[in-house]
Amino acid sequence: MNNYFKDKVIWITGASAGIGEQLSIQLSQLGAKLILSARREEELKKVASKCVNSESILILPIDLAKIENTDSYIKTIQTKYNTIDILINNAGVSQKSMALQTDISIDRMFMEVNFMSGVMLTKAVLPIMHKNKSGHIVAVSSILGDFGLALHSTYSAAKHATNAFYESLREELNEEQIAVTVISPGFIKTDVALNAITHQGIPYNVNSPAQEKGMEARVCASKIIKAIASKKRKKYIGGMELLMVPIHHYTPRLFYWLMKKMSKKN
Ligand SMILES: NC(=O)c1ccc[n+]([C@@H]2O[C@H](COP(=O)([O-])OP(=O)(O)OC[C@H]3O[C@@H](n4cnc5c(N)ncnc54)[C@H](OP(=O)(O)O)[C@@H]3O)[C@@H](O)[C@H]2O)c1
Repeated sequence: MNNYFKDKVIWITGASAGIGEQLSIQLSQLGAKLILSARREEELKKVASKCVNSESILILPIDLAKIENTDSYIKTIQTKYNTIDILINNAGVSQKSMALQTDISIDRMFMEVNFMSGVMLTKAVLPIMHKNKSGHIVAVSSILGDFGLALHSTYSAAKHATNAFYESLREELNEEQIAVTVISPGFIKTDVALNAITHQGIPYNVNSPAQEKGMEARVCASKIIKAIASKKRKKYIGGMELLMVPIHHYTPRLFYWLMKKMSKKN
């Protein structure tokens, strides 16, 4: 696995915290050359300082809810590294709001951050990968890309779209040496639930017991790295909650009964 990342130029979004922070640290230890993106520049610098060769890391702050053009990012990356080998579309923002109470501008923000921005970055790097005749696109989706959940309608919709886009893209790239990997985490111990946006457009700021008891972000990141190195098409990462995926698929009546039971409990 180690050689897969040595001297590779890897662009990680959502690198300022959680899973992205752990991916950055661990990939730097494997010899990767990093580009770290998220909104908070100070947090990105803190993450870089925990990485190997921190002084050579490119910090590229971006608000993924607002990108219209990717040319300047690609120019900055080309100037620094002259290429890009792996893109990890990891940034995401969760939801804690009823569909009916959620203003359409907030729905659009969920789609931009969790789906459209990844599509834009992918389209921006693919010409470079085509030219190199190699590359790897990674999308961090969710088990909510396999089924819906109350209070997560547009987040879940964005993750469903993520699964469909990258699966289709993989088929288009079949003849070339560009790999596509979709990661679907279950419950991972990060601030994702605290940062979830409510119908008022502000963070929920209450943690979820599911995330509190979830897999450590460090462990999740190391499993993601293994999945990338072995060019997995799709990888589910988490604990018992992953069982909800086959239960939903094969025994939907049991799935909806369980969901009802769980929503009453909460
Ligand atoms: N943790 C889980 O249980 C879980 C489960 C399933 C899927 N996931 C997925 O895993 C990925 C990583 O999430 P996490 O758990 O590590 O959550 P997190 O700790 O909240 O980290 C989210 C990352 O996304 C960045 N981000 C959010 N909004 C952004 C924006 N508008 N522009 C640019 N960057 C933005 C944040 O940085 P800034 O705030 O600095 O912008 C942060 O670096 C997400 O795609 C999430 O949907 C997580």
